Amino acid sequence: KHKGVIFDLDGVITDTAEYHYLAWKKLADELNVYFDREINENLKGISRIESLEIILKKSDKFFSEEEKYYLADKKNEYYKEMIKRMTPKDLLPGVVDLIKELKDRGIKIAVASVSKNAKTVLSNLGLIETFDYIVDAEKIKNGKPDPEIFLNAAYGIDVEPKLCIGIEDSKAGIEAINRAGMLSIGVGNYETVKGADIVLKDLSDPLPILNLL
Ligand code: BG6
Ligand code: MG
Repeated sequence: KHKGVIFDLDGVITDTAEYHYLAWKKLADELNVYFDREINENLKGISRIESLEIILKKSDKFFSEEEKYYLADKKNEYYKEMIKRMTPKDLLPGVVDLIKELKDRGIKIAVASVSKNAKTVLSNLGLIETFDYIVDAEKIKNGKPDPEIFLNAAYGIDVEPKLCIGIEDSKAGIEAINRAGMLSIGVGNYETVKGADIVLKDLSDPLPILNLL
């Protein structure tokens, strides 16, 4: 019986994975660097600067560290502009009901996102007070696929990792959950999350999760 559920944010609770893609696409187009949705699948769950490094692999130009920070910041400005207009209407199907059901059953819930914008997004969605614990991305040394962020979340809600369920839309995130010794649930793109213990289209049907509690 599981006692804690740890949610990724971007692409699980809300469709900010699409905004991250659009912001990177805008930057890549400006740089004349080839970038598409297939490459983007590998950026899911990956930090801002590491994502930029992956994108720049398609460029033959040299970028100094300073230029890279400038470009990463530019993408973030595009992204921040996109999330400004978010409201609770932008929650993905089933999320509100699932959270309510988990709380009613006394299950602890946490958010494990590497995004430095996670708190802004959660507050625009009206969820900033909802979770028992939100991982502070600034305090995480090793990003996904390292299990650190999920282990930190389990510690934050005081539930043993093996009694936690992690929900992710990224390949790196599923690997992180599996390495943390938790039960992994993948949502979204099937090819991306096929390493999960359970793969769902989205969270609109809560039963497969509630059955694990
Ligand atoms: C993850 C996203 O949640 O956060 C990645 O899946 C993103 O696409 C990462 O790069 C970092 O986000 P931010 O907001 O700090 O640039
Ligand atoms: Mg995600």
